[in-house]
Amino acid sequence: MQVIKNPKQLQDTMLELKKQGKKIGFVPTMGYLHEGHISLIKCAKKENDIVVVSIFVNPLQFGKNEDLGKYPRDFERDKSICEKEGVDYLFYPDYKDMYPESFQTYVEVVELSKGLCGDYRPGHFKGVATVVLKLFNIVCPDNAYFGKKDYQQLKVIQRMVKDLNVPVNVVGCPIVREPDGLAMSSRNTYLSNEERQSATYIYKGLLEGKRLFQSGERDSEKIRQAVIDTIKKAPLLKEIQYVEVVDKDSLKPKKVAESGDVIAVAVYIGNTRLIDNMEL
Ligand code: PAJ
Repeated sequence: MQVIKNPKQLQDTMLELKKQGKKIGFVPTMGYLHEGHISLIKCAKKENDIVVVSIFVNPLQFGKNEDLGKYPRDFERDKSICEKEGVDYLFYPDYKDMYPESFQTYVEVVELSKGLCGDYRPGHFKGVATVVLKLFNIVCPDNAYFGKKDYQQLKVIQRMVKDLNVPVNVVGCPIVREPDGLAMSSRNTYLSNEERQSATYIYKGLLEGKRLFQSGERDSEKIRQAVIDTIKKAPLLKEIQYVEVVDKDSLKPKKVAESGDVIAVAVYIGNTRLIDNMEL
């Protein structure tokens, strides 16, 4: 596995590989890799000749009072995971090479960045779309793999690729969970033991919503309320930011729930913000 820090060097390498007819699969990450990330890498391995993983904690997508400074990092561990998974290139750029002083171009996916996390993290999806387009232009992948864990992010990227004619196939992959149902996340490391226990109520809430839907309930307000009631049982719950039943493509809230809609949740357990979702 080759570790490349310089964007131009990686781009030149990728363009050469493409000339040789190689199919390139790409998994963008912010590092501190877990089974969720690894599932994307495994998927990319199956469907491509060359697999590229990027690790870049992108300051542009963090708000002023968010966790950029304490975001977990362990490059050596991430590197050995990538090696073990058979990753071919690990792209690990420095901030100054991604955002030189004169940087001033941004990508905004206007409507899909509103609502859900967009309401609580202003500028977040602009930061995500901008860095992902940069990464796409550097890596030139045929296929790029994203988790459904960050459902709004996946939709934003899919829209951007369509709207801007980016020649990349965006693949959405299933959420990987801990045995007790908590969606894997680098941010789970912030949780104390008690908070970690408490966090299991998020999945329980989503399951309760889905159970209600499966038993015939279509009033999304009732489904929402059932999810909220369950999550409220979490002992260290600090705040429920949102619980919404949304259309799977437009992400607009639904009055009448339908098969394929998504229940999306964001909560604070202690000081840790966690998101999750489930397809109905
Ligand atoms: P990060 O949070 O590191 O996630 C990288 C990718 O892993 C994302 O596509 C995310 O949806 C996926 N992922 C995370 N947890 C997962 C889980 N439990 N199951 C399945 N997939 C999971 O998302 C980002 O980084 C950044 O915003 C990025 C796209 C790299 C842009 O900076």
